[in-house]
Amino acid sequence: MLPFDKLLPTDKTSAQPVYQQIANAMIRHIQSGLFTPGMALPGTRELAGLLNLHRKTAIAAYDELAAQGWITAIPRKGFNVTHILPEVKPRRWAQKPQDLSFREKMAAPFYILHKTGFPAPALLPIPPRLIIDDGHPDDRLAPIDLLGREYRGRLKSAAVRRQVSASLVAGSPRLREALVSWLAGTRGLQAQVSNILVTHGAQMSIYIAANLLLKAGDAVIVAEPGYFVANEVFHHLGANILRVPIDEHGIDVDRVEKLCRQHPTRMLYVIPHHHHPTTVTLSPERRMRLLELAEKFNFAIVEDDYDYDFHYSSSPYLPLASGNHGNRVVYIGSFSKSLSRSIRVGFMVGPEDFTAQAVYLRRLIELKGDNNMEDTLAALILNGDISRHLKKVNKIYETRRNHLCQLLDTRLSGIVSYRKPSGGMAIWTSFAPHIPLPDLTAKALRQGLYLSDTRLYNTHQTNYNATRIGFASLSEPEMEEAIDILAHCAQ
Ligand SMILES: Cc1ncc(COP(=O)(O)O)c(C=O)c1O
Repeated sequence: MLPFDKLLPTDKTSAQPVYQQIANAMIRHIQSGLFTPGMALPGTRELAGLLNLHRKTAIAAYDELAAQGWITAIPRKGFNVTHILPEVKPRRWAQKPQDLSFREKMAAPFYILHKTGFPAPALLPIPPRLIIDDGHPDDRLAPIDLLGREYRGRLKSAAVRRQVSASLVAGSPRLREALVSWLAGTRGLQAQVSNILVTHGAQMSIYIAANLLLKAGDAVIVAEPGYFVANEVFHHLGANILRVPIDEHGIDVDRVEKLCRQHPTRMLYVIPHHHHPTTVTLSPERRMRLLELAEKFNFAIVEDDYDYDFHYSSSPYLPLASGNHGNRVVYIGSFSKSLSRSIRVGFMVGPEDFTAQAVYLRRLIELKGDNNMEDTLAALILNGDISRHLKKVNKIYETRRNHLCQLLDTRLSGIVSYRKPSGGMAIWTSFAPHIPLPDLTAKALRQGLYLSDTRLYNTHQTNYNATRIGFASLSEPEMEEAIDILAHCAQ
């Protein structure tokens, strides 16, 4: 008899269940030819004795192997390795060509979408030890256990199996219902379920809204500098991007009016809280003016309120969508900011006919989202977990913001200038002209620190030599180390 105790070692400390370890080891031996087709295996009682395990574990291992088709149970005899192994070998349908590898260049014609100076995402040869992001939450603080428990429950639930996929394109009904009360309570939005589309992050909402509002040549007004990925969407659609300066009160509304007089405008994209990248908040007066201008010139406002949940120095202003919006505002938010980057669930709120078209378009991109995650978020909204989480992290992020300001003042004094943001997750930091950011970031990377260089923000004529330093995702010691590296590299 083969030495099964040696051939099937088990590790009770491993995260993998012991029955699976045994099944996997047996599969390996069958594949290697050591366990031959038709070979008789020890009975479950004998195997348990040989491996010093409970018999139930041996039964579970054999059940698993039988379910996968590696062994067959012969009544009153025992278990044998199957004669026809459950391995599907693909069939070749042509002679093997000489070289199968994919090359650098596509041989057939295709459309190049990426014609601007927008830099391709950097592929780093070695993952950096420390990352300064451009303003993301700290995933380590996310309510992972609560999310995990709820998500697991959803996966096991019989109700999930009875859902019809086509009815979930707009998002899980539970989440859309939960959002109705959540958005009313937190943002004063008067929306019904039929006004809400759940998307794969806020970015998908921006893409869909822009596709419904813009065709080639249509005018869209944005702030400069602005959120480069949104601008890329408008560019991709061939829109005429009209850039308006932004100051400490937000987008310059007089310039918006002037442009509207010169160009029939279809859309204005605005980030009302902590504008990306400069982090300013749009003042109440300008919110009012924008709504008046939208009515006067009949354009749509896409309100990207990605950062609404994070406020430290003052409370947030209610969105434009909660004011006299005249059914011209599309409101966008995201749980990727409120909870964790890994939660790719955002939402769009708009008039019913617009939302119906958005649902149609969403289905062309993705048949439906992760409805289990959406239900999970609904449960966390309804039982108050998300509100509690936001209260907790707001305190932590405020401390981190203050700590970063102190570090910039002391360790990078004379090198950087910035305005302390009232909320959000990043500080827009300008570097002195004698320290070009591309050089600094390249040096920092060699020291294990990643920081996005200014090129993302320089998409239009100006070199800002500024970048966003995300503070929310870094602990205080990590932040100190990161700023020390920058200070060292700036010398
Ligand atoms: C201003 C702004 N809008 C939208 C998004 C996209 O958010 P999401 O990650 O939910 O797609 C981002 C991402 O950083 C952002 O900064």
